Amino acid sequence: MLYHDVLIVGGGLSGLRAAVGLCEKYDVGLVSKVHPIRSHSIAAQGGINAALANNPDARDDTPEKHTFDTVKGGDYLGDQDAVEIMCKEAPVIVYEMEHWGCPFSRFPDNTIAQRPFGGAGYPRTCFSADITGHVLLNTLYERSVYKDVKVYSEHVVLALVTDGNLCHGAIVLDQIKGEIIPVAAKATVFATGGYGRVYLYSTNALSNTGSGIGIPFRAGVPVKDMEFVQFHPTSLIGTNILMTEACRGEGGYLLNNKGERFMERYAAKAMELAPRDIVSRSIQTEIEEGRGFEHELGKYVQLDLRHLGAQKIMERLPGIRRICLDFIGIDPIYEPIPIMPSQHYSMGGIDTNEKSETVVKGFYAAGECACVSVHGANRLGGNSLLDTIVFGKLASISVDQYLQSDGFKPDEKLLMSKKAEVEHKIKQLNSGGSQRPFKILDELRLTMSNLAGIFRTKDELQQALSKIIELKERYKKVNVSSSKIYMNYELIGAWELESMLDVGHIIVLGALLREESRGAHSRRDFPMRRDAEWLKHTVATIGKDGEPNISYKGVTITKYEPMERKY
Ligand code: FUM
Repeated sequence: MLYHDVLIVGGGLSGLRAAVGLCEKYDVGLVSKVHPIRSHSIAAQGGINAALANNPDARDDTPEKHTFDTVKGGDYLGDQDAVEIMCKEAPVIVYEMEHWGCPFSRFPDNTIAQRPFGGAGYPRTCFSADITGHVLLNTLYERSVYKDVKVYSEHVVLALVTDGNLCHGAIVLDQIKGEIIPVAAKATVFATGGYGRVYLYSTNALSNTGSGIGIPFRAGVPVKDMEFVQFHPTSLIGTNILMTEACRGEGGYLLNNKGERFMERYAAKAMELAPRDIVSRSIQTEIEEGRGFEHELGKYVQLDLRHLGAQKIMERLPGIRRICLDFIGIDPIYEPIPIMPSQHYSMGGIDTNEKSETVVKGFYAAGECACVSVHGANRLGGNSLLDTIVFGKLASISVDQYLQSDGFKPDEKLLMSKKAEVEHKIKQLNSGGSQRPFKILDELRLTMSNLAGIFRTKDELQQALSKIIELKERYKKVNVSSSKIYMNYELIGAWELESMLDVGHIIVLGALLREESRGAHSRRDFPMRRDAEWLKHTVATIGKDGEPNISYKGVTITKYEPMERKY
């Protein structure tokens, strides 16, 4: 058994920021599926929002304006007190990252450069060319090395250990040694990222399975607003690699097969810089109405950067050019980029408050796996990197307060009995069942992309629900070729599949029940937002039968009464 005061699961921005905040005072162990520098935070491109007012066009920007844009962008489902906290913290954490060595791009006066992003009234997205996640992650990782954070790479979390009220740690798998290890901890923080790979078309890393949401759900922790799934408007056809919103922030156009900047039809003022839910629906509509392009890899529209010129593309978007050259042999200096929307972000997640606390004492969650909620029904671009660092920091403050006031000792017996349960379950995965895990996963992904996508209907969601219930039945007979636990990706895949099925189930059930359109949840059969009935958060908890039960809770409105969203 391993012992730490604090166990952090996840080596991306949230996990590292929480670790850095705690490691001087406490014994912190950070468990990560991959080496921290390979965490999905590295893939973030366009930037991080903070009302610094550095841009000459944004001298009167303020955290209050950032708060309003975020609340409106989220279609009024965000909890406004929490949004305000995040937006006020934004300048603090951006300057903190700068002081820790983060190489942000600069304006000529040497202040941090800021570019326009969708749904924002001001250019407030701080960036480092188009590799902002890369530089932030490297900065925080360096900080964690300097502060001697104990990192366990290639360790996968298998189960959370709680007695219902209190968290005692987790069971993890050391893939390299092939050992199942109970980790006793007075406080546990999940910072495991999103569930993008529940979908077939996603910008997310393969490691983003959502098991960090499914595991606490099965341990009795509620999850919130899972039906709100963000589809990024611009992913590269074929691979679905992110083509950053910064392409449009820097002035790129979206064109249909008639050569029209079609966003004029959908958001005449904001055009390509409308919020993501609106731009994705617009692209999908253009394609469905026959104004897209055909390609063997799928239907698409064009992202045109040619008019920006070679110098700007090479200075501001060098990574995008490189990806286009490497993956489809297109140089955006001379040719438009073929793009389609694809799953990108989870607005929902583990139900937390603005202190990153869950209902289980000693168990915290931060970043994309958590739902505070600050993004409401649709996250604004640039607010995700912000969320990861702000709530990683706030989680560290909450854990510190908890550890100061509590003499709690984790229950070793409980940890050992959970370990035995996990070992038994792993053996069962190799007991001659008839179902292959990757076949079930493929069917789940296809179901989610085809039936719980940008536009939804009751009929499609009901089909999706029946399919997922069938897949869950088949999962009971799942079989892997070997139950050896040393570097056995098939086994880990089968283990995580249980969470992926739960996550898919909760998304679809929440979407079926929510008979309105709000932010990224767009029902063709209920096209309007319906505040009187639906201005509320969806909460899913596990029932005695292991299936999700849905209930609802209120949204915190402080200053901004819901209005119609116009861009
Ligand atoms: O488009 C992007 O660069 C993504 C940013 C984000 O998801 O916040």
